[in-house]
Amino acid sequence: VRGPLPAPVLLLYLILPGRPVTAVTEPLQPESPLQKPKVMIAILARNAAHSLPYYLGCIDRLEYPKDRIAIWAATDHNVDNTTAMLREWLRKVQQVYHFVEWRPMEEPRSFTDEWGPKHWPPSRFNHVMKLRQAALKAARERWADYILFADTDNLLTNPRVLDLLIAENLTLVAPMLESRSLYSNFWCGITPQGYYRRTPDYQPIREWKRVGCFRVPMVHSTFLVDLRRESSKELTFYPPHPDYSWAFDDIMVFAFSARQADVQMFLCNREHYGFLPVPLKAQQTVEDEAESFIHTITEALIEHDMAPSEHVHMLPPPQIKMGFEEIFLINLKRRLDRRQRMLKTMASLGLQATSVDAVDGKALNTSQLQMLGIEMLPGYKDPYSGRVLTRGEIGCFLSHHSIWRQVTERGFQKVLVLEDDVRFEPRFRRRLEAIMEDVERAQLDWDLIYVGRKRMQVHQPEQSVNGVNNLVVADYSYWTLGYALSNQGARKLLDAEPFKKMLPVDEFLPIMFNKHPNTIFHKKVSLFGRLIRSSAGMFLFYLPPSSPTSSSFFWLLSCHVCPVLKPLEVGHLRGPRPPPPSPLCVRNVDPHGSSCWLQNWDKIPIDRGVGAGFRRTQRMCGFFLNKWRRVPSVPRME
Ligand SMILES: *[C@@H]1O[C@H](CO)[C@@H](O)[C@H](O)[C@H]1NC(C)=O
Ligand SMILES: *[C@@H]1O[C@H](CO)[C@@H](O)[C@H](O)[C@H]1NC(C)=O
Ligand SMILES: *[C@@H]1O[C@H](CO)[C@@H](O)[C@H](O)[C@H]1NC(C)=O
Repeated sequence: VRGPLPAPVLLLYLILPGRPVTAVTEPLQPESPLQKPKVMIAILARNAAHSLPYYLGCIDRLEYPKDRIAIWAATDHNVDNTTAMLREWLRKVQQVYHFVEWRPMEEPRSFTDEWGPKHWPPSRFNHVMKLRQAALKAARERWADYILFADTDNLLTNPRVLDLLIAENLTLVAPMLESRSLYSNFWCGITPQGYYRRTPDYQPIREWKRVGCFRVPMVHSTFLVDLRRESSKELTFYPPHPDYSWAFDDIMVFAFSARQADVQMFLCNREHYGFLPVPLKAQQTVEDEAESFIHTITEALIEHDMAPSEHVHMLPPPQIKMGFEEIFLINLKRRLDRRQRMLKTMASLGLQATSVDAVDGKALNTSQLQMLGIEMLPGYKDPYSGRVLTRGEIGCFLSHHSIWRQVTERGFQKVLVLEDDVRFEPRFRRRLEAIMEDVERAQLDWDLIYVGRKRMQVHQPEQSVNGVNNLVVADYSYWTLGYALSNQGARKLLDAEPFKKMLPVDEFLPIMFNKHPNTIFHKKVSLFGRLIRSSAGMFLFYLPPSSPTSSSFFWLLSCHVCPVLKPLEVGHLRGPRPPPPSPLCVRNVDPHGSSCWLQNWDKIPIDRGVGAGFRRTQRMCGFFLNKWRRVPSVPRME
C-alpha cells in the first residue's frame, strides 16, 4: 500500500473538484498483441552427421519467432562429425535464439555393451532417458511454455508446425510424420507388456483416410509437451515410475508416465508435417543409415524445397555417373521446378546428371513437322480424339530421339535416360549399380534396359536373365521414365527411321522389341528390326504424387514431357457423375463395351477393342485404380 498522494496531484483535486484524474483525451489505443508462447527445442544428436544439415535446415526455416525459442542441444558417443557440426550451427545461430544450452560429450565414442552404433543396449537407453529428463528439467526451470522433442533425423518440412501443434491446445501432441511403407511416429495399440500392437485404427489414420487429432497410446520421435498444464509436471523419462515394469526403453517409460499422470497422448494428421526414416536394425552401420536417409531426403524433396542449413558446413557427396557416360535428364524448359527438384534429388543421391532441353511439342508448327519429315505410323490413330498424335507426344519423341542421336554421334557405349518426373525407390543407386555390374560380368548383349516401366502383360512371368539378378526379358511394357541404352541399342532405334512412322515413344519401344500386342502394328513395323531388350524386374522408379489440390488427372501419366492424353481429348466424354468415392475405374475392363471412370467423373466409352485407344484406356484404368485406392498414396509401378 502506497503512502499519501504526492502533493501536485492533491493540488489538482483541489483546483478542479469533481473532475476525474483519469480522463485522458488521447485516442484509444488497442492493447498490443500477445507474444508467442516460449518453446524449448530439445536436440539429442548421436552419429547424425548424415542428417543434421537437413534437420537443422528445417529448424532454421520454422516460421516462429526465434527469440521465443530456446535450444537445448546434447550430443554423445559419436564416431562421426556430429559434435563439430552441431557446435558450428549453435555458434552461428545462438544470437537469434532466446538462449542456447550446449552439452557435448566427446568421449567415449561408443557404449561398452553395444554391438554397433545402431544397437540399443540398456546403458544407451539409460543415457538417453537421463538426457531427455535433463532437457525436460531445463525447460521447466527456464519456464518454457512448451518443449518440443524432435529426433535429429526427423525432417519437419512444414514450417508452421509449431503454431499448428500449439493451436491444438493439447498437453502432449505429435505431428504425424511420413515414412516408407506405413511406418510413422505413433502407435494405435499397445500390448500388456507395453510393446507395439497393430490395430485396425492405424492404417486409416496413417493414410489420411481419417483426419484430425487422435487419442493414441504412444507417440515418439517428435512431439510437443505443454508445460503450462498441471498434469505435465508428472511427466518423466528418468527415473522410471516406481510401478514401471515394462522394458527399459525411453519411449515406453515416457508413455507409462503419461498414463500415470492422466495425460492423453494425441497424434495429429490434419496437415503434412514432415518425414522420418524407418528405424534400422541393430546390426546395421552408420553408412546404412546414411543411405536410408537419402531416401527420406528424396521423398521430402518431391513436394518441399528442402535445403541443408546454411549454418552447417557440409561436403556434398561426390557426384558419379554409375559407369554410364552420361545420365541424361529430359526436362521441358518451362518446367524449371521439375528440373531443380530432379537435380537436387540426383545430387543427394550422388549422381551427376546432364539436363537436356526437351522439345516443346506445343511450340512446333506444321511446317516444322514437315521439315523434320515426320509422318505418322499408317493406321495409328487415337480413337478418342481422332487425331493421330498430340504435339506433346511428338515433342516427347523428338526429345528421346535427340538423345539417341547424341549417343551414336558421340560414340557413347551406354547412357542412362531419365524423364524429370520420376521418384526414386530406396537404395536406387546401389541396386542399379549392382545390375549394371552383373550385366557387365555376364557380358550380356543388350540394347535397352527399362529402369522404370509400366508392365502391360502381367499374366505370364517374364523370363529371367542368366547371371544377372533382378533382370528379366521385358514383356510388353510402357513408359519411358528411365532406361539404360547401349550404343547398339541407340543405333537400332535410329536405323528404324522412326520419324517416318511416328507413334508415342513408349509404344515405339515395345514395337521395336516385337512385344506390342497389336498385330496390325506388328506387321507394319517388322521393318523396324529387332531390339534385344531386357528389363529390371524390380521397379526402381515410380511416379511422383499429385499435389492434393491438382484437379487434373494429368500427373498420373508422366505427362509434362510426354503427355499421353490431353484434356481436350477427353472433352467429348459424357455420362453422369458417380458419387464419390465410387471406384474411378473398373478392373478387368472388357474391351467390348464396358466403361471406365476417369478422375473428372466423366464416362469414357471404350472403343471396340481398337488398338491404341483401348490399351490407353486400360492403362489409365490401372492408374486410377491405384490412385483411388491410395496404396501407397502414389501409383507405384507394379
Ligand atoms: C566436421 O564439421 C565441421 C563443422 O561443420 C567442419 O568444419 C569439418 O570440415 C567437418 N569435418 C569433416 C571431416 O567432415
Ligand atoms: C485450451 O484448453 C484449456 C483447458 O483444456 C481451456 O481452458 C482453454 O479455454 C482452451 N483454449 C482454447 C483457446 O481453446
Ligand atoms: C513455324 O515456326 C518457325 C520457327 O519458329 C517459323 O520460322 C515459321 O514461320 C513457322 N511457320 C508457320 C507456318 O507458322
